[in-house]
Amino acid sequence: MNLSNIDSKQDTPRVELDRTFSIAPMLDWTDRHYRYFARLMSAKALLYTEMVTTGAILHGKGDYLAYNTEEHPLALQLGGSNPVDLAACTKLAAERGYDEVNLNVGCPSDRVQNGRFGACLMAEPELVAQCVDAMKQVTDIPITVKTRIGIDEQDSYQFLTDFIETVNAKGCTAFTIHARKAWLQGLSPKENREIPPLDYDRVYQLKRDYPQLNISINGGIKTLEEAKLHLAPLDGVMVGREAYQNPYILAQVDQQLCGIDSPIITREQVIEQMLPYIEAHLAQGGRLNHITRHIIGLFQGLPGSRGWRRHLSENAHKPNADINVVLKAAEFVDAQALAESQA
Ligand SMILES: Cc1cc2nc3c(=O)[nH]c(=O)nc-3n(C[C@H](O)[C@H](O)[C@H](O)COP(=O)(O)O)c2cc1C
Repeated sequence: MNLSNIDSKQDTPRVELDRTFSIAPMLDWTDRHYRYFARLMSAKALLYTEMVTTGAILHGKGDYLAYNTEEHPLALQLGGSNPVDLAACTKLAAERGYDEVNLNVGCPSDRVQNGRFGACLMAEPELVAQCVDAMKQVTDIPITVKTRIGIDEQDSYQFLTDFIETVNAKGCTAFTIHARKAWLQGLSPKENREIPPLDYDRVYQLKRDYPQLNISINGGIKTLEEAKLHLAPLDGVMVGREAYQNPYILAQVDQQLCGIDSPIITREQVIEQMLPYIEAHLAQGGRLNHITRHIIGLFQGLPGSRGWRRHLSENAHKPNADINVVLKAAEFVDAQALAESQA
């Protein structure tokens, strides 16, 4: 543990963040319920919030920074491009105990472009550098940037390195690179995660040319074996859709990627440990499906997983739905296959 960086506001020692494996920020998916669930399976994964805009934090009515303490290590991803607002939000995030603040320079949606943030900021490296500078002024926690390898016709290696160098000059030393470019017009955000081809070599090249930077790769990674291959030349891997749709992949992250020798949690134990969390949520007036929608992929690939999914989808939204819906859904999963999968 590195105790050199004590957060005076919280009086808690900040531990050096391990970026070996992270779960990508995903709007509507990586909310606090999903993150609690993910944390049960991996103690080491660095978790990212959904992107939260500075406008929501500074002017919205809800508490957009709320999280469960169990979620640490936890990074807040911010969407914005006004240095003053980003600094104000970073200060709030640090006070609330977030372990990192990440700036979104990768989202291509029209709404985000209208707000002049997300991927379109790749064309304005000086502004991103100013933002990072302002954010770094208010805190000691790491300020990182998640970006793409290019936008539109601006997709040369030089374009990427100019961006990285300019932002690094203001002190950002950790970057997560989604290894495809974004088309700012004509493709939906979903298409922009599928159509532009992945170019992992470009990210490897970046690490070779800037070995002092902490470089994580993102995009299309589906197995821990693939993750291991990326980790040979790079510092970290970030996994998005697979960690959400097939979440049990997380159960071996600590052991396979982080050198931790702890027992692998079973799927049944995950459910058992979710039950008190779900009950507490229901007791506070929360809806069952706000949690179950995130755990629907837990039995992916096992016989009976369709029954599990169907039962949850058909029942968890009903008024008064409680944990019995979850217990009943679990009965659909083939017990023998489950036992074999965990043997
Ligand atoms: C539903 C969804 C929402 C997303 N929201 C965000 C977001 O808020 N911020 C962000 O930087 N990327 C967002 N992304 C992109 C992911 O972080 C990631 O870069 C992308 O999915 C590629 O990684 P993957 O192939 O492992 O899924 C989102 C992706 C999905 C599927």
